[in-house]
Amino acid sequence: MVESYSKNANHNMRRPVVKEEIVSFMRTRQKPVSGGLKELESFAQRENIPIIPHETVAYFRFLLESLAPKQILEIGTAIGFSALLMAEHAPHAKITTIDRNEEMIGLAKENFARFDVRKQITLLEGDAVDILGTLEDSYDFVFMDSAKSKYVVFLPEILKRLKTGGIIVIDDVFQGGDVAKDIADIRRGQRTIYRGLHSLFEETLDVPHLTATLVPLGDGLLLLRKNGD
Ligand SMILES: C[S@@+](CC[C@H](N)C(=O)[O-])C[C@H]1O[C@@H](n2cnc3c(N)ncnc32)[C@H](O)[C@@H]1O
Repeated sequence: MVESYSKNANHNMRRPVVKEEIVSFMRTRQKPVSGGLKELESFAQRENIPIIPHETVAYFRFLLESLAPKQILEIGTAIGFSALLMAEHAPHAKITTIDRNEEMIGLAKENFARFDVRKQITLLEGDAVDILGTLEDSYDFVFMDSAKSKYVVFLPEILKRLKTGGIIVIDDVFQGGDVAKDIADIRRGQRTIYRGLHSLFEETLDVPHLTATLVPLGDGLLLLRKNGD
Protein backbone atom coordinates (compact mmCIF):
# COMPACT_ATOMS: atom_id res chain seq x y z
CA MET A 1 0.00 0.00 0.00
CA VAL A 2 1.43 3.36 -1.05
CA GLU A 3 1.19 5.95 1.73
CA SER A 4 1.97 9.14 -0.17
CA TYR A 5 -1.42 9.41 -1.86
CA SER A 6 -4.75 9.05 -0.04
CA LYS A 7 -7.94 8.11 -1.85
CA ASN A 8 -8.99 11.75 -1.58
CA ALA A 9 -5.87 12.99 -3.37
CA ASN A 10 -5.94 14.11 -7.02
CA HIS A 11 -9.17 16.00 -6.49
CA ASN A 12 -8.87 17.84 -9.83
CA MET A 13 -8.42 14.64 -11.84
CA ARG A 14 -11.99 13.79 -10.89
CA ARG A 15 -13.29 17.13 -12.20
CA PRO A 16 -12.92 16.67 -15.95
CA VAL A 17 -12.73 19.93 -17.91
CA VAL A 18 -14.13 18.16 -21.00
CA LYS A 19 -17.50 16.32 -21.14
CA GLU A 20 -17.21 13.06 -19.22
CA GLU A 21 -18.39 10.91 -22.13
CA ILE A 22 -15.67 12.37 -24.38
CA VAL A 23 -13.02 11.73 -21.70
CA SER A 24 -14.28 8.17 -21.40
CA PHE A 25 -14.22 7.76 -25.21
CA MET A 26 -10.62 9.04 -25.36
CA ARG A 27 -9.59 6.68 -22.56
CA THR A 28 -11.21 3.56 -23.98
CA ARG A 29 -10.91 4.07 -27.76
CA GLN A 30 -7.23 5.01 -28.05
CA LYS A 31 -4.59 2.27 -28.19
CA PRO A 32 -3.91 0.96 -24.66
CA VAL A 33 -0.45 0.70 -23.13
CA SER A 34 1.05 -2.76 -22.81
CA GLY A 35 3.76 -4.71 -20.96
CA GLY A 36 5.47 -2.92 -18.08
CA LEU A 37 3.52 0.29 -18.68
CA LYS A 38 0.23 -1.63 -18.33
CA GLU A 39 1.43 -3.05 -15.02
CA LEU A 40 2.42 0.41 -13.76
CA GLU A 41 -0.83 1.99 -14.96
CA SER A 42 -2.86 -0.62 -13.04
CA PHE A 43 -0.68 -0.17 -9.95
CA ALA A 44 -1.12 3.61 -10.07
CA GLN A 45 -4.89 3.28 -10.44
CA ARG A 46 -5.07 0.85 -7.53
CA GLU A 47 -2.89 3.01 -5.29
CA ASN A 48 -4.32 6.36 -6.36
CA ILE A 49 -0.99 7.64 -7.68
CA PRO A 50 -1.51 10.56 -10.08
CA ILE A 51 0.15 9.48 -13.33
CA ILE A 52 -0.81 11.03 -16.67
CA PRO A 53 -4.25 9.87 -17.87
CA HIS A 54 -4.66 7.83 -21.03
CA GLU A 55 -5.66 10.73 -23.29
CA THR A 56 -2.34 12.38 -22.38
CA VAL A 57 -0.50 9.08 -22.96
CA ALA A 58 -1.87 8.95 -26.52
CA TYR A 59 -0.89 12.58 -27.11
CA PHE A 60 2.64 11.98 -25.76
CA ARG A 61 3.11 8.98 -28.03
CA PHE A 62 2.22 11.12 -31.04
CA LEU A 63 4.30 14.10 -29.91
CA LEU A 64 7.42 12.11 -29.03
CA GLU A 65 7.41 10.00 -32.18
CA SER A 66 6.97 13.18 -34.26
CA LEU A 67 9.55 15.33 -32.47
CA ALA A 68 12.08 12.56 -31.73
CA PRO A 69 13.81 14.53 -28.93
CA LYS A 70 17.34 13.57 -27.90
CA GLN A 71 17.52 15.13 -24.42
CA ILE A 72 14.43 15.02 -22.19
CA LEU A 73 14.00 16.51 -18.71
CA GLU A 74 11.08 15.58 -16.45
CA ILE A 75 10.15 17.17 -13.12
CA GLY A 76 7.88 14.77 -11.19
CA THR A 77 8.81 11.11 -11.67
CA ALA A 78 6.35 9.44 -9.25
CA ILE A 79 6.60 5.71 -10.04
CA GLY A 80 8.31 6.34 -13.40
CA PHE A 81 5.30 5.75 -15.66
CA SER A 82 5.65 8.86 -17.85
CA ALA A 83 9.47 8.55 -17.96
CA LEU A 84 9.15 4.95 -19.22
CA LEU A 85 6.48 6.01 -21.72
CA MET A 86 8.83 8.70 -23.05
CA ALA A 87 11.68 6.18 -23.19
CA GLU A 88 9.53 3.82 -25.26
CA HIS A 89 8.45 6.46 -27.77
CA ALA A 90 11.72 8.41 -27.93
CA PRO A 91 14.12 5.43 -28.06
CA HIS A 92 17.17 7.60 -28.88
CA ALA A 93 16.57 10.06 -26.05
CA LYS A 94 18.46 10.41 -22.81
CA ILE A 95 15.92 11.13 -20.05
CA THR A 96 16.66 12.91 -16.77
CA THR A 97 13.82 12.82 -14.24
CA ILE A 98 13.59 14.49 -10.81
CA ASP A 99 11.54 13.59 -7.73
CA ARG A 100 11.74 14.45 -4.03
CA ASN A 101 9.33 11.91 -2.51
CA GLU A 102 11.26 9.00 -1.01
CA GLU A 103 8.45 6.50 -1.40
CA MET A 104 8.07 7.40 -5.11
CA ILE A 105 11.85 7.34 -5.60
CA GLY A 106 12.00 3.78 -4.23
CA LEU A 107 9.23 2.59 -6.55
CA ALA A 108 10.66 4.44 -9.57
CA LYS A 109 14.09 2.84 -9.03
CA GLU A 110 12.54 -0.64 -8.98
CA ASN A 111 10.51 0.13 -12.11
CA PHE A 112 13.48 1.57 -14.02
CA ALA A 113 15.56 -1.50 -13.09
CA ARG A 114 12.83 -3.72 -14.55
CA PHE A 115 11.58 -1.79 -17.55
CA ASP A 116 14.17 0.79 -18.73
CA VAL A 117 15.55 -1.73 -21.22
CA ARG A 118 17.83 0.68 -23.12
CA LYS A 119 19.04 2.35 -19.88
CA GLN A 120 17.89 5.75 -21.05
CA ILE A 121 16.69 7.14 -17.71
CA THR A 122 18.64 8.90 -14.94
CA LEU A 123 16.72 9.63 -11.72
CA LEU A 124 17.84 12.66 -9.71
CA GLU A 125 16.65 12.59 -6.11
CA GLY A 126 15.73 15.83 -4.39
CA ASP A 127 13.75 19.02 -4.78
CA ALA A 128 13.71 20.45 -8.28
CA VAL A 129 14.24 23.89 -6.68
CA ASP A 130 17.74 22.74 -5.69
CA ILE A 131 18.53 20.48 -8.65
CA LEU A 132 17.51 22.56 -11.67
CA GLY A 133 20.31 25.13 -11.21
CA THR A 134 22.93 22.35 -11.20
CA LEU A 135 21.94 20.71 -14.51
CA GLU A 136 24.62 21.05 -17.16
CA ASP A 137 22.84 19.56 -20.17
CA SER A 138 20.52 21.39 -22.53
CA TYR A 139 17.19 19.82 -23.45
CA ASP A 140 14.85 19.71 -26.43
CA PHE A 141 11.80 18.37 -24.54
CA VAL A 142 10.81 19.13 -20.94
CA PHE A 143 7.83 17.67 -19.06
CA MET A 144 6.79 19.49 -15.88
CA ASP A 145 4.43 17.41 -13.74
CA SER A 146 5.04 18.45 -10.13
CA ALA A 147 3.70 20.99 -7.61
CA LYS A 148 1.59 23.36 -9.72
CA SER A 149 2.30 26.53 -7.76
CA LYS A 150 6.03 26.06 -8.49
CA TYR A 151 5.86 25.81 -12.29
CA VAL A 152 6.41 29.55 -12.66
CA VAL A 153 9.34 29.37 -10.21
CA PHE A 154 11.01 26.56 -12.22
CA LEU A 155 10.41 28.19 -15.60
CA PRO A 156 13.46 30.55 -15.79
CA GLU A 157 15.93 27.75 -14.95
CA ILE A 158 14.26 25.48 -17.49
CA LEU A 159 14.24 28.12 -20.23
CA LYS A 160 17.99 28.67 -19.70
CA ARG A 161 18.53 24.97 -20.42
CA LEU A 162 16.02 24.59 -23.26
CA LYS A 163 17.34 24.67 -26.82
CA THR A 164 15.77 27.13 -29.25
CA GLY A 165 12.92 25.24 -30.90
CA GLY A 166 12.60 23.05 -27.78
CA ILE A 167 9.24 22.23 -26.21
CA ILE A 168 8.00 22.37 -22.61
CA VAL A 169 4.84 20.45 -21.70
CA ILE A 170 3.28 21.49 -18.39
CA ASP A 171 0.61 19.24 -16.87
CA ASP A 172 -2.49 20.05 -14.79
CA VAL A 173 -2.82 23.76 -15.48
CA PHE A 174 -6.64 24.07 -15.34
CA GLN A 175 -7.06 23.29 -11.61
CA GLY A 176 -10.27 21.40 -12.41
CA GLY A 177 -11.62 24.52 -14.17
CA ASP A 178 -10.86 26.89 -11.27
CA VAL A 179 -8.35 28.93 -13.29
CA ALA A 180 -11.24 30.35 -15.31
CA LYS A 181 -12.97 31.68 -12.17
CA ASP A 182 -12.48 34.83 -10.12
CA ILE A 183 -10.12 34.33 -7.17
CA ALA A 184 -12.93 35.26 -4.75
CA ASP A 185 -14.70 32.03 -5.81
CA ILE A 186 -11.65 29.82 -5.12
CA ARG A 187 -11.35 27.93 -1.81
CA ARG A 188 -8.66 29.54 0.39
CA GLY A 189 -6.54 26.37 0.42
CA GLN A 190 -6.40 26.40 -3.39
CA ARG A 191 -5.44 30.05 -3.88
CA THR A 192 -1.65 29.59 -3.85
CA ILE A 193 -1.97 27.18 -6.77
CA TYR A 194 -4.44 29.53 -8.50
CA ARG A 195 -2.00 32.46 -8.14
CA GLY A 196 0.95 30.33 -9.26
CA LEU A 197 -0.88 29.17 -12.38
CA HIS A 198 -2.03 32.70 -13.25
CA SER A 199 1.57 33.98 -12.88
CA LEU A 200 2.63 31.15 -15.20
CA PHE A 201 0.02 32.21 -17.80
CA GLU A 202 1.20 35.83 -17.45
CA GLU A 203 4.82 34.78 -18.13
CA THR A 204 4.05 32.52 -21.08
CA LEU A 205 0.81 32.98 -23.01
CA ASP A 206 1.58 36.23 -24.82
CA VAL A 207 5.34 36.82 -24.89
CA PRO A 208 7.56 37.06 -28.00
CA HIS A 209 10.15 34.46 -26.96
CA LEU A 210 7.55 31.68 -26.60
CA THR A 211 4.74 30.19 -28.67
CA ALA A 212 2.09 28.80 -26.33
CA THR A 213 -0.97 26.60 -26.61
CA LEU A 214 -3.42 25.31 -23.99
CA VAL A 215 -4.70 21.80 -24.67
CA PRO A 216 -7.73 20.42 -22.74
CA LEU A 217 -6.36 16.92 -22.05
CA GLY A 218 -6.52 15.56 -18.50
CA ASP A 219 -6.57 18.61 -16.23
CA GLY A 220 -5.09 20.74 -19.01
CA LEU A 221 -1.70 20.91 -20.68
CA LEU A 222 0.25 24.07 -21.46
CA LEU A 223 2.72 23.58 -24.33
CA LEU A 224 5.49 26.11 -24.88
CA ARG A 225 7.96 26.38 -27.76
CA LYS A 226 11.10 28.42 -27.16
CA ASN A 227 11.55 30.79 -30.10
CA GLY A 228 14.72 32.44 -28.80
CA ASP A 229 16.20 34.01 -25.65
C1 LIG B 1 1.79 13.93 -10.66
S1 LIG B 1 3.15 13.08 -9.99
C2 LIG B 1 4.14 12.72 -11.42
C3 LIG B 1 3.52 11.67 -12.30
C4 LIG B 1 4.42 11.19 -13.43
N1 LIG B 1 4.92 12.32 -14.21
C5 LIG B 1 3.67 10.25 -14.34
O1 LIG B 1 2.77 10.73 -15.08
O2 LIG B 1 3.96 9.06 -14.34
C6 LIG B 1 4.03 14.42 -9.27
C7 LIG B 1 5.38 14.06 -8.64
O3 LIG B 1 6.11 15.29 -8.51
C8 LIG B 1 6.90 15.21 -7.36
N2 LIG B 1 7.22 16.60 -6.98
C9 LIG B 1 6.36 17.60 -6.66
N3 LIG B 1 7.02 18.74 -6.43
C10 LIG B 1 8.34 18.47 -6.60
C11 LIG B 1 9.53 19.23 -6.49
N4 LIG B 1 9.50 20.52 -6.14
N5 LIG B 1 10.71 18.62 -6.75
C12 LIG B 1 10.76 17.31 -7.09
N6 LIG B 1 9.66 16.53 -7.22
C13 LIG B 1 8.48 17.10 -6.97
C14 LIG B 1 6.03 14.48 -6.36
O4 LIG B 1 6.84 13.88 -5.36
C15 LIG B 1 5.31 13.47 -7.24
O5 LIG B 1 5.95 12.21 -7.22
